[in-house]
Amino acid sequence: NRDVLLAPSILSADFANLGRDANAAVAAGADWLQIDVMDGVFVPNISVGLPVVASLRKAVNTTLDCHLMIVQPERYVADFAKAGANHITVHAEATTHLHRTIQQIKQLGLTAGVALNPATPLGVLDEILPYIDLVLIMSVNPGFGGQEYIQTSTAKIARLRHLLDAHGYPDMHIQVDGGVSARNVAEIAAAGANNIVAGSAIFTPQRPAAEMIELMRAALR
Ligand code: DX5
Repeated sequence: NRDVLLAPSILSADFANLGRDANAAVAAGADWLQIDVMDGVFVPNISVGLPVVASLRKAVNTTLDCHLMIVQPERYVADFAKAGANHITVHAEATTHLHRTIQQIKQLGLTAGVALNPATPLGVLDEILPYIDLVLIMSVNPGFGGQEYIQTSTAKIARLRHLLDAHGYPDMHIQVDGGVSARNVAEIAAAGANNIVAGSAIFTPQRPAAEMIELMRAALR
């Protein structure tokens, strides 16, 4: 089975000590760091934006994965690249011209992903697969950390992996985000996900991120 990358989401980190939390996760073996950008329009919450990406860029040495939960993300793709993002994922539901937006990200030298909300069918990906590096399957309705994993996501992940294998995309990342923890990560990876986002299962006041990352890794062995 594929190596599984761990991409902790900083949404549940301590924002008053973000550099500390981010470095703790990276030191504990996180592969990527996901920054959840929310505009209060595409999702019913507001999180962080460009200054936080720029500060994290200086503070950590890892792949910064910006998950743009914003409408018309094409307006800010260049700014996020300038702030130091290595990867940008946009929502298929948030941009009218998805192909042009993906081209824009790639022309900036970043890798590009398309995110699908739980009710958005895989068919939306049909014409964009040749141009992207990653598909993000949202397993919660985006906007908040700490929600319950939507169980039907597992079958959706499996169908996507079969579709990718059948159409010659063996290297496409399937990233899964929302309600993932040591309890369900093995099932999610077995279905074909190779890139795991977890927020509240990694950053929790009760236990250090290093311990939570080790729990997640142990569940994947
Ligand atoms: C939710 C965000 C997720 C969130 C995951 O809208 O996109 O990345 O941080 O949080 P958990 O892992 O706590 O469900």
